[in-house]
Amino acid sequence: MSENWIEIGTLSDIPRLGARVVESKQGDIAVFRTADDEVFALRDKCPHKGGPLSQGIVHGKRVACPLHDWKINLDSGLAVAPDEGCAAYYPVKLEGDAVFLSLTPNEGCPN
Ligand code: FES
Repeated sequence: MSENWIEIGTLSDIPRLGARVVESKQGDIAVFRTADDEVFALRDKCPHKGGPLSQGIVHGKRVACPLHDWKINLDSGLAVAPDEGCAAYYPVKLEGDAVFLSLTPNEGCPN
């Protein structure tokens, strides 16, 4: 599948240890920024009960869901054990300060 990159703004548009939401036909996508200014994107829907991951707090390369505190790995969308499930993971890249998001989720997560 071809990647479908869209420019979504600059790194400074995303709060550090937080996220901004990008609307897509597939639903909202949360674009996160870590303390190290790495950027990751997940479907804005927790694999537990659909909580808005974009409102969670980022710790390292994980986000804690604001509803029941499941931890989700930002670099795979997989929930941290003992919880099970995953949120769709979208490729993101930085070119200078510009942030590009691919609307083609990685295979493997049905969520
Ligand atoms: S909805 Fe995210 S932990 Fe329950």
